[in-house]
Amino acid sequence: MAHLAHYREAHPVPFVITHWINLIAMIFLIITGFYIHFPFVAGFMGMARGAHMFFAFVILLNLLARIILAFILKSSPTGGTRKQVPDYKNFLPQKDNRHQAGAWVKYYLFFKKDHPLGAKFGVLQKISYLAVPVLLIIMGFTGFCLYAPTMDVGPFAAFTNLVGGLMIIRIIHYYLMWVFILFTFIHVYLANVEGFAPTLLMFFHKEHGGLVYDPEVHNIVGEDDLGGEH
Ligand code: HEM
Ligand code: HEM
Repeated sequence: MAHLAHYREAHPVPFVITHWINLIAMIFLIITGFYIHFPFVAGFMGMARGAHMFFAFVILLNLLARIILAFILKSSPTGGTRKQVPDYKNFLPQKDNRHQAGAWVKYYLFFKKDHPLGAKFGVLQKISYLAVPVLLIIMGFTGFCLYAPTMDVGPFAAFTNLVGGLMIIRIIHYYLMWVFILFTFIHVYLANVEGFAPTLLMFFHKEHGGLVYDPEVHNIVGEDDLGGEH
């Protein structure tokens, strides 16, 4: 199947940067988190805790920046076009793909070979991307319940009491890490299953030619080979 062109306008530079920061911080949080949970070599606990809290602040500030930028910056509502709309709209149901949930589920379950065209993110992609900030906020909240300087602060202490103690909070925080790990595996697989063009664009801002889509008429209107360089 021919693919839509991948243009820079889909992922403006600030989103490339927030995605990089997110990935790097996530790697360090997972490594230091594993170490805190199971110190496989002795002697690095202080360092692991310090690094974990440093990257915790980085990832939470990065999340805040990403959310604010979603309302300030514009991005293309679909592949194959350089037209842009306010970025947050791409995470909500759009005219282009509102009715495609069923078709996407069939595609993911291998009942259908091709997924529907339309909108930058598929229906399930939007849902999982919106779940990332929710999960990160829960990680941050449970993290601050475990963090000595904040554990006695009102809402954190109240939540720890509510669930039955710090051990339960640790368990929640630990198992949610596995949700992130699973998300990342599935995300990396799905992002690359049809070729590396989306990843080259998201990480290195490299464009790739393909079909041109007109979001006004909701259809393919031509093909762009980016001047025939590829
Ligand atoms: C977003 C803000 C986050 C904050 C504020 C935070 C904070 C903390 C704190 C204070 C601890 C306890 C350290 C100790 O026992 O001294 C901890 C443990 C841990 N964190 Fe985080 N964390 C955050 C995000 C994450 C993320 C994103 C992951 C992984 C995806 C993660 C994985 C872990 C793991 C596995 C542990 C060990 C839990 C255990 O004891 O079994 N954390 N975190
Ligand atoms: C090597 C690892 C990764 C690869 C190859 C990758 C690849 C991609 C690609 C290609 C896109 C654009 C999708 C599209 O345009 O259809 C994307 C977007 C996204 N990725 Fe990743 N990703 C990685 C790691 C992560 C991690 C660890 C997270 C979070 C836990 C994450 C969260 C997101 C989110 C929320 C978006 C939405 C776009 C945006 O924020 O502007 N990614 N990723």
